[in-house]
Amino acid sequence: MEDKLGQLRELKAKARLGGGEARIEKQHAKNKLTARERIHLLFDDNTFEEIGMLVTHRSSDFGMEKEIYLGDGVVTGFGKINGRLVYVFSQDFTVFGGSLSETHAEKICKVMDLAVKNGAPIIGLNDSGGARIQEGVKSLGGYADIFYRNVRASGVIPQISAIMGPCAGGAVYSPALTDVTVMVKHSSYMFVTGPNVVKTVTNEEVSAEELGGAKTHSTKSGIAHLAAEHDLHCIQLIRQILQYLPQNYTESTPRKSIELTDELRPKLNTIIPASANQPYDMKEVLIEIVDEDSFLELQPQYAENIITGFSFINGQSIGIVANQPYSLAGVLDVDSSRKAARFVRLCDAFNVPLLVLVDVPGFLPGTDQEWNGIIVHGAKLLYALSEATVPRVTVITRKAYGGAYDVMNSKHIGADMNYAWPSAEIAVMGAKGASEIIFKREIKNAEDPKALALEKEKEYAEKFAHPYRAASRGFIDEVIEPAYTRRKLIKAFDMLKNKSTSLPGKKHGNIPL
Ligand code: HXC
Repeated sequence: MEDKLGQLRELKAKARLGGGEARIEKQHAKNKLTARERIHLLFDDNTFEEIGMLVTHRSSDFGMEKEIYLGDGVVTGFGKINGRLVYVFSQDFTVFGGSLSETHAEKICKVMDLAVKNGAPIIGLNDSGGARIQEGVKSLGGYADIFYRNVRASGVIPQISAIMGPCAGGAVYSPALTDVTVMVKHSSYMFVTGPNVVKTVTNEEVSAEELGGAKTHSTKSGIAHLAAEHDLHCIQLIRQILQYLPQNYTESTPRKSIELTDELRPKLNTIIPASANQPYDMKEVLIEIVDEDSFLELQPQYAENIITGFSFINGQSIGIVANQPYSLAGVLDVDSSRKAARFVRLCDAFNVPLLVLVDVPGFLPGTDQEWNGIIVHGAKLLYALSEATVPRVTVITRKAYGGAYDVMNSKHIGADMNYAWPSAEIAVMGAKGASEIIFKREIKNAEDPKALALEKEKEYAEKFAHPYRAASRGFIDEVIEPAYTRRKLIKAFDMLKNKSTSLPGKKHGNIPL
């Protein structure tokens, strides 16, 4: 028996070394942790159990039969994060550059299947040179097997992708199919075709970092929900994201027990500027509303005119969508509509109640927006919110103009509780624009057109630039003092916690993609 135990221990020690000491050093020299070091940091102490440690590839082309590494470039298994079951695959760049072989893919599929069957999240730590070049189509098939599972698992269990090294070619499509993507700054990149192919096809010269680094994807494309400073930070962010999500779509969201402090927030009475055209920071509003230090913003540098993120209110996990007057006056455009729509669907899929904070002057006009399909992208947000069955609460802080009023979680599209501050202006458009249109002739023919224009603007504002008409129709449930917002929301979400509603029977809807 001693011999056998010795052999087993030797095999496991060999597997733990992956591609060997030299390659591990190379990985560290790039400021990257190894696949196993990442897993060690990800899971609660002593909870990780590895699956398939002794799996090897089956390839014999190009002398591959002589290059065998136990585990075949990916560490897979399960463990606990904050005490809850989670599955993982972590690609090992020290083995054939973490490239995906047929068996490597099989290992990933195995943990994905287990995650779905057992209703627990799956995390992919991606660090790979893509398809294992020596294996050809077998590797492509392996990718497709993963993509298929990503889609099947979508909306069933949370899927989170970390990009912690190269991620090129078809490999980017698995992360793209998951719920949240976190990239590590300077050591990771994602693109369908790399700089060399770009140069050949389009003659553009671009570095890998510029083409698909964390900065690019968190500012230009929005593909990265978060950009981490380094590997450890990336792991910490993943652990944090999981706190807001249930294990699967059948469970309700986690609740934290907190000690309730005084829920009055007098500062909220002072945030809205005197002039309707002056910006203010909506984050100041939401920080006052939610539990202390509980807000995690997603895509913070992409489409900054809308804020999306998770938070807790009275210990209850919620998703927040909020117009940001600080950026483009909080207008809805192509990117902000897409960003918010996707986030709403993530929350709705996993039973995360939604809070929508509204200060929106409308949709952004212009050829750029129209030609890029603002109609269809704006419709995405309208569709996502109309379809969402989670508890939905709205607070209108200032402007709610035109179609954007409808879209931003109005009562008409199924919101459960709609509050407005006294500063709310719920109208077809701003008073100036509105009065210029309806009193155009009178103003033109007036002795003093400027004075009449001002007078008419004032008249329109008095009639419509307030929340009371909407409240009189029941479109607003209550006009509240801003200082009471947190208190009101705690009660509203508590009241809605057993909300139960379903969509009409159908195969699936046809969201405008
Ligand atoms: C097999 C690979 C590999 C791959 C890297 N390696 N990529 N082995 N298949 N795809 C091996 C290298 O031979 C090397 O082995 C080790 O991994 C580390 O690679 P280096 O090049 O030394 O590292 P680095 O300089 O950091 O460069 C990393 C890299 C580069 C940028 C990822 O290796 C690279 O460009 N690889 C090829 C990328 C690629 O074209 N992949 C196919 C994409 S197409 P040794 O023994 O020296 O340590 C694709 C299609 C999928 O993925 C479609 C699905 C639908």
